[in-house]
Amino acid sequence: NWTMENFIELEVQKIRDEVKDRKVLCALSGGVDSSVTAVLLHRAIGDQLTCIFVDHGLLRQNEADDVMKMFSEGFDINVIRVDAEQRFLNLLKGVSDPEQKRKIIGNEFIYVFDEEASKLEDVDYLAQGTLYTDIIESGTETAQTIKSHHNVGGLPDKMNFDLIEPLNTLFKDEVRHLGEELGIPQHMVWRQPFPGPGLAIRTLGEVTEEKLSLVRQSDAILREEIKEAGLEQDVWQYFTVLPGIQSVGVMGDQRTYDHTIAIRAVTSVDGMTSDWARIPFDVLEKISTRIVNEVTHCNRVVYDITSKPPSTIEWE
Ligand code: XMP
Repeated sequence: NWTMENFIELEVQKIRDEVKDRKVLCALSGGVDSSVTAVLLHRAIGDQLTCIFVDHGLLRQNEADDVMKMFSEGFDINVIRVDAEQRFLNLLKGVSDPEQKRKIIGNEFIYVFDEEASKLEDVDYLAQGTLYTDIIESGTETAQTIKSHHNVGGLPDKMNFDLIEPLNTLFKDEVRHLGEELGIPQHMVWRQPFPGPGLAIRTLGEVTEEKLSLVRQSDAILREEIKEAGLEQDVWQYFTVLPGIQSVGVMGDQRTYDHTIAIRAVTSVDGMTSDWARIPFDVLEKISTRIVNEVTHCNRVVYDITSKPPSTIEWE
């Protein structure tokens, strides 16, 4: 009979039989799928696994450090961290079209990964966190692309590796249970979805370091307060957006002309459709008060009350 322990045991054996004494590379994003893939691979082959973690500078507050701490220190996995923030920011300079931003980030991500991977010697395999649903969905893709997705899983096959995809028979919730069984912390295993292009698609229009900082600070406050209110499990995804609007406000007896932060919080099953989350007014009030008080150059907070469709969850 099928249990998670059996699955791990069988998968570990399968990986060992396949890989033998060769080396495996894995692209770590900090997302659930790549994390579980890395830990499972590490359980099977230990030091023969090397992970590359590309920090594109578009992650949430402390995220890159947390990922490093967990995998490098916590699990003792070989992780190469690439700090590529400036490269991405330079390429994004002057670019405000959402699709162009997505493409630039997706391409550069592959480029940076490729460059780093080519420095390693005799790696034969690339491990990817492809799920069963990823395989089905790519077979039924509609003709019209709404948004070009950037997934850490989707590295180009021009790289000369054999693929290892140990999760490709599993659904998302099974991957989460597998992660728990492998000892990955709860907050990591149950974390909300985060898009490959990161905060760049939540900073509307041109991305700059200053704008990213507003999104990052407000997002950290939102996440703290959602947690504090015990709503983490009720809201499917929650984040802040910088629409790039400035408006007039008043602070003390001074006129201000500062940024607006939008809060996006949705309920959903799979991200294909969603409804705006009915967060209690008193929680919203606390979030709003904290954001205008703690985030400098923000004087207004609005709540996005549109469903998908006709909106999408992310604003770009
Ligand atoms: P939208 O905005 O299309 O988002 O309603 C649906 C879900 O997908 C996530 N999303 C992405 N995930 N790479 C990803 O891995 C991407 O490029 C990307 N764009 C959007 C979004 O956060 C939501 O959960």
